[in-house]
Amino acid sequence: MFGGWAAADMPDQEARTALVTGANSGIGFQVAVELARHGAEVLLACRDTGRGTRARDRIRGLVAGAAVELVALDLADLDSVERLAGQIAARPEGLDLLVNNAGVMAVPRRQVTAQGFELQFGVNHLGHFALTGRLLPVLLARPGSRVVTVSSIVHRFGSIRLDDLNSEHRYSGWRAYGQSKLANALFTLELDRRLRAAGAATLSVGAHPGYTSTGLMHSGPQLGGGGIFAHVMGMAAPFTGQPAALGALPVLRAATDPGARGGDYFGPRGPGEIAGAPRRVRYTRGARDIPLAGRLWRASETLTGVTFPV
Ligand SMILES: NC(=O)c1ccc[n+]([C@@H]2O[C@H](COP(=O)([O-])OP(=O)(O)OC[C@H]3O[C@@H](n4cnc5c(N)ncnc54)[C@H](OP(=O)(O)O)[C@@H]3O)[C@@H](O)[C@H]2O)c1
Repeated sequence: MFGGWAAADMPDQEARTALVTGANSGIGFQVAVELARHGAEVLLACRDTGRGTRARDRIRGLVAGAAVELVALDLADLDSVERLAGQIAARPEGLDLLVNNAGVMAVPRRQVTAQGFELQFGVNHLGHFALTGRLLPVLLARPGSRVVTVSSIVHRFGSIRLDDLNSEHRYSGWRAYGQSKLANALFTLELDRRLRAAGAATLSVGAHPGYTSTGLMHSGPQLGGGGIFAHVMGMAAPFTGQPAALGALPVLRAATDPGARGGDYFGPRGPGEIAGAPRRVRYTRGARDIPLAGRLWRASETLTGVTFPV
């Protein structure tokens, strides 16, 4: 669309194993396709077996000889997160790349995860926090390993309510989504600081897809019964958002660019970071708030019961 970095610029991914959350649709699916096309073994971490199987078969149809496998992951249930991490730890292949991509957006009425966390904070942040913490020993053992966490332009408008992280006292779908995406950004940078302090070679890198036409535009609102908002968003997205293959590029660059550094953040280079080829972009000041990141980290450890080896 604007020229610049494209999937063809990805280095060979042979001998790398990647796990992509929410790989059955949208950005996660495209990320999985390109990783497989470039030779990686890709684990599609999906919550629904039917949708996951269809995605796996589609990738096998698109990429001859693709090494793709379906693994079960429901980020709204920490027991599922723990089960998957156990399976990965037992695999001799190890893990080189974790892409924290899955998400839900703007759920109109407050819903909760299996452990009682507000759904967006629980899935988008806490589920990925727990997954990363449990997989980090496996990643640390691999030279050149990375954790890529997908945030959003919306992180700019988010705020962290440490006294009400799970929106028990006041709920708005967009506010909870904004909080979860700011949490993704704070997490990426805090993980980067911790990895550096530990002298680890694993990188923590962030990305956002601008505005991309995917299921996200209506899946969240539909969880609350649909309505006019869901209808309008779902109808408009295919005309106003960039295609998922383009939206995936910042994530792919964060995952594979040999020049990427820990703490980098990639997003579309077009006006407003809405669309276009990926380049380095900036998190907001709020996302770079180190004391806030520390407080969120400690709260996330307490809520999930997961602590990190760094
Ligand atoms: N599209 C955009 O313009 C945009 C903008 C900024 C940021 N993002 C971010 O991009 C990421 C990917 O979203 P997308 O646009 O590709 O939307 P999408 O097509 O709706 O994909 C979201 C994926 O997350 C999965 N998911 C939802 N809840 C889950 C759970 N509890 N456990 C495991 N997986 C779960 C979905 O699985 P099911 O199919 O089973 O529901 C789906 O595979 C999200 O983090 C989103 O916040 C997107």
